[in-house]
Amino acid sequence: MTSQIHSAIDFYERHPISAQIILAKLEVTRGTLEGLQPEDLFAHDQDHYGGLAANDALAKRARIGIGSKVVDLCAGLGGPARYLAHRHGAIVTGVELTPARVAGAAELSRRVGLEGKVRVLEGNVMDLPLADASFDAVVSQEALLHVPDIGRTFAEAHRVLRSGGRFAFTNWIVHRPLSDAQRQLLWDGMAAATLIGIDRHAELLRAAGFEIETVEDETESWGAILGERLRMYEKLRSEAEAAGTPAGHDDFYRSYVLFVDLVQRKAMGGARFTAVKS
Ligand SMILES: C[S@@+](CC[C@H](N)C(=O)[O-])C[C@H]1O[C@@H](n2cnc3c(N)ncnc32)[C@H](O)[C@@H]1O
Repeated sequence: MTSQIHSAIDFYERHPISAQIILAKLEVTRGTLEGLQPEDLFAHDQDHYGGLAANDALAKRARIGIGSKVVDLCAGLGGPARYLAHRHGAIVTGVELTPARVAGAAELSRRVGLEGKVRVLEGNVMDLPLADASFDAVVSQEALLHVPDIGRTFAEAHRVLRSGGRFAFTNWIVHRPLSDAQRQLLWDGMAAATLIGIDRHAELLRAAGFEIETVEDETESWGAILGERLRMYEKLRSEAEAAGTPAGHDDFYRSYVLFVDLVQRKAMGGARFTAVKS
C-alpha cells in the first residue's frame, strides 16, 4: 500500500500542470498577476473530465449551496473547491496527498482571495484528518482510482458527513475485465491502483453505510472528451519532438492511449455516483 501511495505522489509531483505553470501562463496573457479573479483560473485548474459543468453536476447531486460545508476528496490544485466556493457559496475543505499540489492550491486560493472559504489539507483520503459528522457534502472527481482502499475511503466519507449528508463523486470504472498487461500499463503510466466496476462501487458504498440515490454512466461523454484531450496531447508531443524538447513521459503517453481506447470501446468508462448518509 505504501508503494501505491508513493506512486500517486510521484505521478502528480511531475504532472505537467502546476500552480507555477498556471501563474506563469496567466502573467504572460494578462501582463500581470495583480487583481487575479477565480474565473481567471478556471480554464487551467480543473483536473477532471467535463470541466466546470462536471462541478455543477456534483453540486446539484450533493445539494451544495450557500454556506454548505463540503469536503473535496483528492482536491488536486483546489480548482473544483474554489469553483464550489465562488460559484455555489460553499465552504470547502480539500484533502490532497501530494505536497506540491497542497502548496499550489494554497497559493492559487490566496491569489484570488478565496483563502477564507477554501482550504486544502495535506492528507490521505483513506484516513481523513476531519471530525465526525461535521460536513454537509463530500465530493470527488477522477481520483479514487489512485486510492488503494476505496472501501475505507467510503467509510471515511460516511464518518465525516452529518446524517442526511450527501456524497457525490465521479470515478473511472471497468465495464469488462482487463488483462494483467492492461492493468500493469495503467498502473505504470497513470498510477491507477484500483480499477473496479459500477457494481463493486455500489457494494462498497452500501457496506460503508450509504444509501445509493443515483448512478449515472458517463462513458459515452467521456469517450468524446478523452478523444479530444488525446488529440491535443498528441499535437503538443509532436510539436515538442519537432522542436527537440522533451516530449513527455512515455509510460504516461502509452497508458493514456490505452485508457482512451478502452473508454471509446466501452471496456472502461466513467460514472457519477450519488449516495446519502441516512
Ligand atoms: C486527477 S487529480 C484530480 C484533482 C481534482 N479532483 C480535480 O478535479 O481537479 C487526482 C488527485 O488525487 C490525489 N490523490 C491520489 N491519491 C490520493 C489519496 N490517497 N489521498 C488524497 N489525495 C490523493 C493526487 O495527488 C491528485 O492530485
